Amino acid sequence: MARLNNKRIVLGITGGIAAYKSATLLRLLRQEGADVQVICTEQASSFIGIKTLAALSGKGVLLEFSDAETGAWNNHVALGSESDLLLIAPLTAQSMAKMAQGFCDNLLSAVYLSARCPVMIAPAMDLDMYAHPAVQRNVQHLRSDGCQLIGPEYGALASGMTGLGRMSEPEAILEAVCAHFNQASKHLKGRHVMISAGPTYEAIDPVRFISNHSSGKMGYALAEVCASLGAAVTLISGPVHLPCPAGVQRIMVKSAAEMHEACMSHRATQDFLFMAAAVADFTPAQPADGKIKKHQAPDHLILKPTRDILADLGAEKSPGQTLIGFALETEEGTEQALDKLKRKNCDFLVLNSLQHQGAGFGGDTNQVSIFAKDGSRKELPLASKTEIAQSIVEWICLNS
Ligand code: CTP
Repeated sequence: MARLNNKRIVLGITGGIAAYKSATLLRLLRQEGADVQVICTEQASSFIGIKTLAALSGKGVLLEFSDAETGAWNNHVALGSESDLLLIAPLTAQSMAKMAQGFCDNLLSAVYLSARCPVMIAPAMDLDMYAHPAVQRNVQHLRSDGCQLIGPEYGALASGMTGLGRMSEPEAILEAVCAHFNQASKHLKGRHVMISAGPTYEAIDPVRFISNHSSGKMGYALAEVCASLGAAVTLISGPVHLPCPAGVQRIMVKSAAEMHEACMSHRATQDFLFMAAAVADFTPAQPADGKIKKHQAPDHLILKPTRDILADLGAEKSPGQTLIGFALETEEGTEQALDKLKRKNCDFLVLNSLQHQGAGFGGDTNQVSIFAKDGSRKELPLASKTEIAQSIVEWICLNS
C-alpha cells in the first residue's frame, strides 16, 4: 500500500548544492503516491534542472509569484493552506534566515508564511555555517515556530570538509515524512475500535424486507485500515457480500434492532466508534408471521421508527470515547451534517454527498468531508474507499 496516497505536498527547493538530491526525493515521494508541487527559489534553479523536476512531478515547477510566460498568478495562500505538508529540502542558511525573520521576497517564503499545514525542513550547509550561533538561533527560532527539523547529518560536505551540515539522504527524508503521516498507528495500536457497516433488512414477512443500497464497502475498508494499524476491531455488519477483513472480529446482524443490540452490548470497552452503517430509519410495525399471499396484498404498510444507534451511543458516551457518525445527503449537506454532529453528540461526522460523481453507495470510490466538533473541517478528494478510510482514520486520530 503506498504510504502517501492522497497527500498533497509542496516541495520547496532552495539554492544549495544538495538540491541535486531533491530530484531523487521527489521521485520517492511520487512513488509513495504523493501529489507533489515543486517550488524553487531563483538560486535553486541554477543547481537543478527545472525540466527534470517538472517531469518527475508531472506538473509545472513554480518559481515566481506569477508565471513569466503567461503572467498567471501563483496563489501562495492557496498553496500554503490547501497542502498537507510543506517540505523544504534542501534549506540553505539564507532561506532559513528569511523564514526565521518572516521575510517574504519570493514565492517559497510567501507560501511558508501562509502555510496552515505542518512544515518540515532539511537544512544543508557547510559545517562552520551550521555551527554559527546566528544559524543556530534561526534553527531554534524555526523549531519554536513549529517547523520539524530533518537532519542535518554528519558526513562529507561539498567543500571537501567533513562535519555536521550535510542534508539527510532522500530515503531518510522520505521515512521522516511517512512517519509524520503515520501518527495514526501510534493512536490505534492496542486500542479498541467498533465499526458498524452495511445496510439493515427490515422484515415485512419472512421472505420480504425493506433495505437500502449500502454495500458495506466503506465500513469494511475502515475495519481493514484500523486492524492493519494494530487496533482490536469489532465489526458489526449488516447483510453484505464481503469477506471479513483479516484480524477483525465480525458480528453479523440483520435488522436495525439487532444492530442496536450488538452495538450497545459492545460499546463500553471501545475507544473509537465508527458508525458507518446505513441503518434503516423505519421498520414495519407488525411484520407478518407467514408469507403474505398475493391475494392478501395489504393496501398499506405501517412503519414505526427504529432506534437511533448513533444517538444512543452519543447519549451514553463515556469520557475518552471518540464517536464518529456518517451521513449521506442528496443535497450539499453541510448544514445537516453539522446538525447531526451536535444532535447525536458525535466528535466527528463524515459526510458523503450523493451530488458528487463517484461518491456514495456501491462503488469503489468515495469523496467525503469530515467535520469535527471543534469546528475544524477536512475535505478528502475522490479516491478509492481504502484510501479514503486511511485518510479518515489518520485525520481523526490526529485531531482527537
Ligand atoms: N444511524 C443510526 N441509527 C439509525 C439511523 C442512523 O445509528 N436508526 C446513524 C448512521 O449509522 C449514521 C448516522 O446515524 O452514522 C446518520 O445517518 P442518517 O440516516 O444520515 O441520519 P438520520 O438521523 O437518519 O437523518 P435523516 O435520515 O433525517 O437525514
